[in-house]
Amino acid sequence: MNAESTDAEDELSPYDLMGGAETVRAIVDRFYDIMDTDPAAAAIRAMHGPDLGPMRDRLFDFMSGWLGGPRLYHGCVVGAHRRFAIGIAERDQWLMCMSRALEDASVDSTAREILAKPMYAIADIMRNDRA
Ligand code: HEM
Repeated sequence: MNAESTDAEDELSPYDLMGGAETVRAIVDRFYDIMDTDPAAAAIRAMHGPDLGPMRDRLFDFMSGWLGGPRLYHGCVVGAHRRFAIGIAERDQWLMCMSRALEDASVDSTAREILAKPMYAIADIMRNDRA
């Protein structure tokens, strides 16, 4: 068990099972490298600033807490997306980058299967093309 955990239960979080901060860092770095270079993600790459460095740190902070590790992100992640037009195409580009990043960071296939639904759900929440 993680020494910092305050959970009443002694269960391992997805964060621990996946390999902790090192794995989350590898996922996030790979995610933005793919977004930065794959033409299939060009539309969402263009929404981001030229320097993806700050985003790497923010997504790392968010993912850490989301996966059950240390809560490092204190913003409103949905609010941070309101100024961008995010529809189905953008959501699917984001999910494509993330699913490849998980694979490339050697997250095992069982963990990837477990994460697939919640990952889809959180990406779909960022869509703001419903109104
Ligand atoms: C669904 C498609 C998504 C698109 C198109 C998208 C796009 C963006 C853009 C354009 C930014 C701001 C970049 C900048 O200021 O340079 C951003 C920030 C961010 N995104 Fe996303 N995003 C998506 C989904 C997600 C999801 C699912 C998560 C979390 C799992 C996430 C986590 C973040 C975080 C933590 C930030 C930083 C926010 C801050 O400034 O505090 N994004 N995203």
